[in-house]
Amino acid sequence: MNSLEDCYIWVIGASSGIGAALAMELSQRGARVILSARRQKDLEAVKEGLAGTEHMVYPLDVREINQIKSVIDDLKEKEVRLSSVIFMPAFYKPHSVGGHDIDIIDQMIAVNLTGAFNVVHCVKPWLLQQGYGQIVLCSSIAGYRGLPMGQPYCATKAGLISYAESLKIELEASNLDVKVISPGFVKSPLTDKNDFPMPFIIGVDIAAKVIADGLLKRGFEISFPKRMIFVMKVLRLMPNFLYFMVMRYIFNIISQKRIL
Ligand SMILES: NC(=O)c1ccc[n+]([C@@H]2O[C@H](COP(=O)([O-])OP(=O)(O)OC[C@H]3O[C@@H](n4cnc5c(N)ncnc54)[C@H](OP(=O)(O)O)[C@@H]3O)[C@@H](O)[C@H]2O)c1
Repeated sequence: MNSLEDCYIWVIGASSGIGAALAMELSQRGARVILSARRQKDLEAVKEGLAGTEHMVYPLDVREINQIKSVIDDLKEKEVRLSSVIFMPAFYKPHSVGGHDIDIIDQMIAVNLTGAFNVVHCVKPWLLQQGYGQIVLCSSIAGYRGLPMGQPYCATKAGLISYAESLKIELEASNLDVKVISPGFVKSPLTDKNDFPMPFIIGVDIAAKVIADGLLKRGFEISFPKRMIFVMKVLRLMPNFLYFMVMRYIFNIISQKRIL
């Protein structure tokens, strides 16, 4: 993609947070945005605020493959040529020392990971038929390594990075571009649930600008903010014994604070 002007970009998870801000940023850069998530009223409210016209709202739940398919059928019928699909949805609940109940873990995997497989499964044949297109999966720096108190969320985000890497290699020969987004802390309804300090936290508007810029670049990963990425990449490169030493120390501090 050389420009966002007049491109159809499908933002799934556009009813709040980074996805809503991204829809706004893309519209200001001339894109036609297709907005999806479960909450139709919130999607309509986001659409109202967008610059330009020709934006569309399609409520869906990424756990329901038939809902994704029927949106694609409708878009195809409208002769939409899709430039990019951006997968933003996540289910997140802060972790307690004792861990999550299995139903919470199931939900997290179903939305964050299986949801991405569902979307890619449905959209890939369409993009292959077009002969071009972009698939963007939103992971997190939480997917770089297993973090204490991060279990199911980190695991789903690590899975998304791995999935995006596989897809990139498999699809580049077919002229499909695959990217992964790795945000650090961004102030949104998701992080409003956290009661711990979030270093280098940024606003959704800044995150949206970096993502919109990144869509047009050649690189695979769109990551931000820089200082947080530096810290996490150092942790990722550490040998296991050193990584576990650092994390053991942090985990002890967190556990003591929660017990007190
Ligand atoms: N905020 C951060 O610090 C941060 C850091 C790293 C990564 N991320 C990632 O960034 C992405 C956006 O997060 P956010 O912070 O903007 O959180 P958010 O405001 O909670 O946004 C999550 C979005 O996902 C949608 N969603 C949830 N379940 C869905 C489902 N089953 N089907 C379809 N849509 C669904 C929500 O809409 P509905 O409820 O209307 O369905 C909402 O639009 C997530 O993937 C998150 O993991 C965020």
